[in-house]
Amino acid sequence: MRADLVIEGRAYVDGRLIEAAIAIDDGVIASVSSPALAPSADERLVLGPGQIMLPGMVDMHVHLRDFNQAYKEDWYTGTLAALRGGVTLVADMPNNDPPVNSLARLREKLEIAGSRALVDFALYCGAPMDPGEISEIRKIACGFKIYPEDYSRLPSLLDQLEESLVVIHPEDPETIMLERSRIISPRIEDHGRIRPKLAEIRAVDRVLEIAGSRRLRLHFTHLTTGDSILRVISSKLRGGGISCDATLHHALLSSDAVKVLGGIAKVNPPLRSREDSEAVLSAMRSGLVDAITSDHAPHLLEEKLRDDYDEVPPGFPGLEIYLPIILTEVLEGRVPLRVLDLYSRKPAEILGARKGSLTPGMDGDVVVVELGRKRVISPSDFASKAKYTPFEGWKIKAEVRMVFLRGTLALRDGESCVRMGFGRHVAGS
Ligand code: NCD
Ligand code: ZN
Ligand code: ZN
Repeated sequence: MRADLVIEGRAYVDGRLIEAAIAIDDGVIASVSSPALAPSADERLVLGPGQIMLPGMVDMHVHLRDFNQAYKEDWYTGTLAALRGGVTLVADMPNNDPPVNSLARLREKLEIAGSRALVDFALYCGAPMDPGEISEIRKIACGFKIYPEDYSRLPSLLDQLEESLVVIHPEDPETIMLERSRIISPRIEDHGRIRPKLAEIRAVDRVLEIAGSRRLRLHFTHLTTGDSILRVISSKLRGGGISCDATLHHALLSSDAVKVLGGIAKVNPPLRSREDSEAVLSAMRSGLVDAITSDHAPHLLEEKLRDDYDEVPPGFPGLEIYLPIILTEVLEGRVPLRVLDLYSRKPAEILGARKGSLTPGMDGDVVVVELGRKRVISPSDFASKAKYTPFEGWKIKAEVRMVFLRGTLALRDGESCVRMGFGRHVAGS
């Protein structure tokens, strides 16, 4: 056998770092072996000291905007941010302007993403306006995203979406409306009171109850409390294809950040107490959540600095800093190395993509990371159009140096080496 490319060095394989040679042929991992047994190759790369290789990361919850919100992010800047963060597959949410909730809109997005993306991508569809389109939508979308405003349609929607991946944003709208009505002119610090964790717990209960005994692939995204994670786990134990994810911001930051950063730290669901974030972090440590997602939700800095509570859009970018932050947490002993699976192998499995691990048969997506050198997170350098982050000033000790996507060098030292449109659509479920 002869491969196109062999990369040799310390590699993350089966949850451990081992000395290995990864051979890639025709864009796919052909073998993983000890360096001595590696096949000959047209090109050979030997990692330098302090460098390790990881599978391309997989982020199953991002907002790359475009359409009428291209000023916040577009598929080029969003996927350059992904590449810089070692992410080779993103799954993009449908809450666009205009919303992606029909076959026509989904095809439009496929066109835009297909012509601009630098990394591979999957697309969610919103609750479909015309249920008659579902079978066609399924051929394109990796799943459906259900927002609180769709809950009232949930019983019939879930009947129609059996066997599809259904991702739920869990916040009960009635609870939020009631809390909001209690405060006349809210300040940013009230965000957590207006969208309390009770809203999340109620939403999880309500959705699980409606789901009943249907055969579904339900996925609860960005869970923020131990209580809701436990509900998902116990439901999983009773059978049924249920999974969940959590973000690093809900695991590593608390509502204290809102006091310091104001609107920059406004996000849905809100940052919670330290007790809650500790619960989320320990769920990540022990693998009780199935995935880590960035919920990369870019807005312009000037929008985030507005004075009026209601005028500050929720969310912040995360794609380019998630992997470095995870690795820094690993290096500092706060989380085990295996949490990397939550940002690679596990979300790839949920999406049904042949990515996310250094295993023969998977796409040849390899990230070369340099460990050790300290750097400070500085959002003015972001590729994303959203030049802010609540992680500003954090010290990170890991830097993405190279990214191979399907065997092709796609990024070197922060610069893209592939043309727009190199990213491929990963088709539906
Ligand atoms: C997201 C956005 O801006 O699109 N905002 C957020 O605070 N997470 C929407 C969402 O994921 O709920
Ligand atoms: Zn959401
Ligand atoms: Zn989101």
